[in-house]
Amino acid sequence: MTKEEALAEVAKRVGACERCKYLPDQNPVPGEGNPDAEIMFVGEAPGAKENETGRPFVGAAGKFLAEMLNSIGLEREDIFIANAIKYQPPGNRDPLPEEIALQLPFLKKQIAIIKPKLICFLGRHALHALLPEEVRPISVLHGQLIIEKGQAFLPLYHPAAALYNGSMRQTLLEDFAKIPGYMDQIGSD
Ligand code: URA
Repeated sequence: MTKEEALAEVAKRVGACERCKYLPDQNPVPGEGNPDAEIMFVGEAPGAKENETGRPFVGAAGKFLAEMLNSIGLEREDIFIANAIKYQPPGNRDPLPEEIALQLPFLKKQIAIIKPKLICFLGRHALHALLPEEVRPISVLHGQLIIEKGQAFLPLYHPAAALYNGSMRQTLLEDFAKIPGYMDQIGSD
C-alpha cells in the first residue's frame, strides 16, 4: 500500500467512525496534504468552514497559517495538516478529553504513515493530545523544540488565537521563522 492509499484508508475510517457517532450531523475532516511531508501541523478541531468543506484550516486561521508558511518559503502542498479531533465539536466548544482520546488513534496512524521529521502543534489541545505528560503551558513552550522518543515537536500558538492579538501574531511569526533552522538541526542529528 502506498502512503496515499494508507492515508485514504484512514480518511475512510474517520468517515465511518463508529466512535464518532455521538457528534451527529458533522462532516468528517480527516486532514490533507503531502503524504511525504517532512513537517506536519496538528490543530485542535475543525471549525464551521472546515465542517462545511471537509478540509482543515480553510477559514481565517487557515489563511493566516498559509501566510506564515509562505513566510518561510513553504506552501500548503508541502506539508500535511490534521487536527487532534476530526469533527467539529457541537457549538464549536473546546474538544472534551474523551473526544480527543477516542479520535487520537486516527492522528497517530497518520503520523505513523507520514513519518514527519517535525510535528508542529497549533495550540495547547494538540500539544496535550500527543504529549499528555507535558505539564508546562504553551505560553512557556512555544517556539522551543522538544524531542521525545526520537520525534521532534514544536509547540506553537494557535493561529486563531493570534489573529486579533498583535503581539501573539508577532510571536507566532517569529516562532515560524525558527522552523527552517530546526529542520537543519533535526536533519543533521
Ligand atoms: N482550527 C483548528 O484547530 N483546526 C482547523 O482545521 C481549523 C481551525
